[in-house]
Formats: sequence, structure tokens, C-alpha cells
Amino acid sequence: MGVHFGVSTFFVFCLLALSANAREFRITARPGSDITGELSKLFKEACQCVDKSTVLIPKGEFKLGEIEMMGPCKAPIIFVLQGTVRADGNVNGKDFWVAFRRITNFRLNGGGIFDGEGNASWRANNCHKTSLTQCKRLPISIRFDYITDGKVRDITSLDAKNFHINVIGAKNLTFEDIRIVAPDESPNTDGIHVGRSDGIKIINTNIKTGDDCISVGDGMKNLLVERVTCGPGHGISIGSLGLYGHEEDVTGVKVVNCTLRNTDNGVRIKTWPSAACSTTASGIHFENIILQNVSNPILIDQEYCPWNRCNKNKPSSIKLVDIKFKNIKGSSGNKDAVKLLCSKGFPCKNVEIGDIDITYNGKDGPATFQCSNVSPKLVGKQCPKACSSPVTKQPGH
Ligand SMILES: *[C@@H]1O[C@H](CO)[C@@H](O)[C@H](O)[C@H]1NC(C)=O
Ligand SMILES: *[C@@H]1O[C@H](CO)[C@@H](O)[C@H](O)[C@H]1NC(C)=O
Ligand SMILES: *[C@@H]1O[C@H](CO)[C@@H](O)[C@H](O)[C@H]1NC(C)=O
Ligand SMILES: *[C@@H]1O[C@H](CO)[C@@H](O)[C@H](O)[C@H]1NC(C)=O
Repeated sequence: MGVHFGVSTFFVFCLLALSANAREFRITARPGSDITGELSKLFKEACQCVDKSTVLIPKGEFKLGEIEMMGPCKAPIIFVLQGTVRADGNVNGKDFWVAFRRITNFRLNGGGIFDGEGNASWRANNCHKTSLTQCKRLPISIRFDYITDGKVRDITSLDAKNFHINVIGAKNLTFEDIRIVAPDESPNTDGIHVGRSDGIKIINTNIKTGDDCISVGDGMKNLLVERVTCGPGHGISIGSLGLYGHEEDVTGVKVVNCTLRNTDNGVRIKTWPSAACSTTASGIHFENIILQNVSNPILIDQEYCPWNRCNKNKPSSIKLVDIKFKNIKGSSGNKDAVKLLCSKGFPCKNVEIGDIDITYNGKDGPATFQCSNVSPKLVGKQCPKACSSPVTKQPGH
């Protein structure tokens, strides 16, 4: 069998490379060309290699179509992107541009750029305005599905058509020194979305985008976000939770030493009223956060219902437990410095808030600190004064 023979020969080749470092599978196409076919073939070969291997895209610009790089692989894979890969403007309904799936012991690095070329399609995307089932879905730039023991370091995601990076089913996956860039008016371009995973770190990363810099979906356990700079963007967000049935609990999220600049929100937790499920989000700690001109710097919103896509009469059934906001300082872009709007049906439990110093200089000031259905434990300084202003319902929002 030709195929069998080819594979065996190939194994011999891999084994011969054992003594050296990782065997290298390098793109040989000329810059400017489309490397989808070659990359797909190289990845398959590397994945079958019994020794550690490197897949390398050298410096230069290349076109790249939708590509799924699927494990399980026989040995660790290092994917090195030194050049720039560009998606084209075509959208064929797939939910990803580049997908890494079911790989254990995975590394991605090299200083290169994934350019989603989203500019033309942003205008066609109305998912942020209409029912989620009725809009034209655009591909997520980079998907990491079911990665175990991985490290993604020193890459850039530029102008994604939809989310830049989406992670699901990961166990022990670290992102470090990542750059994410898209204009503030690009819709739905979440920087890094994580969910249904255990053990993710996002470290020393700079995110400028049009939607949430980091968003955390249901089923996330043990997430650390450290030294992330966000802005423009919509801040760092847990949720939205409760839109779908069959959601899982969120447990253990730590966001520390982060800076937000010129963002629409700071650190927030948002859940839908009349949630389709009844889960718990617990152990969520925000600490040492610097704000510069951040609207809604600290926000728990259990009445999250954009474009009236929900029944606001039923309180949210998502329980928020053990939530901490500590040492959060800087300037707000609106007077809602702190807003803790918990569910009438399930008031937030064990909320601690301490060393808050948020200023607002607008004409409609001063800054406010509102609480509903929550009695936070207050520690250290509170500026503005905690739970001082009553929450007034805003009609139509
Ligand atoms: C997107 O396209 C418009 C119209 O062609 C152009 O004015 C704008 O500069 C582009 N933006 C980016 C981020 O490329
Ligand atoms: C997590 O993944 C990294 C990178 O693959 C690996 O070096 C480390 O041993 C893993 N840690 C655990 C606890 O599995
Ligand atoms: C955050 O920064 C402070 C001050 O630089 C440092 O002492 C602390 O160890 C950092 N915390 C984490 C979890 O990195
Ligand atoms: C404050 O942030 C908003 C975006 O939320 C931005 O439009 C505005 O230009 C920023 N102001 C300053 C002074 O940077």
C-alpha cells in the first residue's frame, strides 16, 4: 500500500532526526503565495512524527485560507509563526479561520502576525444588534479547542473578523506576551474569549480592540489574568452568563495587576435576567487594577439585556458568590464608578470591596457607588462612599 509505505518511510525520517533537536517542517512557498495546502500537509506530517517537531512559517507575508490543525499528535508540536499570514475577505460560513484542535503539549510562538483582514466584513456583521440566531456569523481568527498543556507566546492577532482568540476545552494553557489589535469600532472583536476550560493563564498581554478585551464564558475554572493592558475595548468581563441552557459554573477567576485605558467598561460580571439555567459563578477576584478614563469601572450587572433580547421581569438565576474587588484606582469616564446590581431573586453573597479610589471629573458628577441586592463587606478606603446612592431604574435600558 503506497500510503502505508509513505508513512513508514516518513517515520524513519523522523527517527533519524531524534538525536538532533525538534524536526523542522518549514513552509517553502514564496512570500505572497497561498500556503493553506502546504501548511495543512506539513502539519499532518509533523503531527505523525514520533519525536518533537516544529512547524515553521518563515518571515514574509503569506495568504492563508481556513485551516484546521487537528491532533492528537504523536509528540509535542511547536508552531512557529515568524511571518504574517493574511486571511482573505471571503467568508464561507465556517466559525474559524485558523483552528488548533485536540493537541497535547503544544506551543505557538515566533513573533508573527495573524491578520484576519476584518475591515470589510465588520460592516456586514450585525450579530451584536440582532438575535444571535439570525445574523451572519463571521469566523473567529484563532481557535484553540481541547488543547492540553500548551503555551502561546509572542504572537499578534490583527483585525479579526469576529473574536480574535477563542479557547474551549483547554487544560493548562498559558498565553503570554500576546498583542491584539483592532480598531475600537470593530464589532464583536473580543480579544481572548475563554470558557469550559481548567487552568488558563493570560499574562503580560496588550489588547486594543472593539469589544471585550477578555471575556470569560461558562464552565471556566481557574483562570489567571495578570499584567494585561486593555484599551480601547469593553474591558475584562465575566459573562455574559445565562443566555443558554446547559451552562456550567464559573469557579476561580483572578484578575491582577491589569491596566485599563479609555475602555467602555472596567472589570465586570454580567448575567442575563430570566437566565436559561441556574449556575454559580464563585471565587472571582479583581485586584490591583489601574484605570484611566474607564467608563463603568466596577460593574456587576445581573440585568444585562442588550437590545432587549430577554425577559427583564424575571430576575437572573445566576448566583454570584465570593466576589472581591480590591485596590482599584484611577479615573472613570462616567459617574458610575461602582455599580453592584445583583439579582433580586439571588442576591450576591460574600462580596468584598476594598481600597477603591475612583475619581470622575465630568459635569454630571461626582462619581457614585451603587448597590442593590448586595451588602458588600467593606475594607480599607472607599472613594466614592460605598452604597451611597440609590439605584434608579433607567427606562428603556
Ligand atoms: C477600513 O476601510 C475603510 C474604508 O475603506 C478605511 O477608511 C479604514 O481606514 C479601514 N480601517 C482599517 C483599520 O483598516
Ligand atoms: C502545563 O503546561 C506546560 C507547557 O506545556 C508544562 O510545561 C507544564 O508542566 C504543565 N503543567 C501542569 C501542571 O500540567
Ligand atoms: C502585582 O504587582 C505587585 C506590585 O508590583 C507585586 O508585588 C505582586 O506580586 C503582583 N502580583 C501578582 C499576582 O503578580
Ligand atoms: C475616554 O474614553 C472614551 C472611550 O470610552 C474616548 O472616546 C475618549 O476619547 C477618552 N477621553 C480621553 C480624554 O482620552
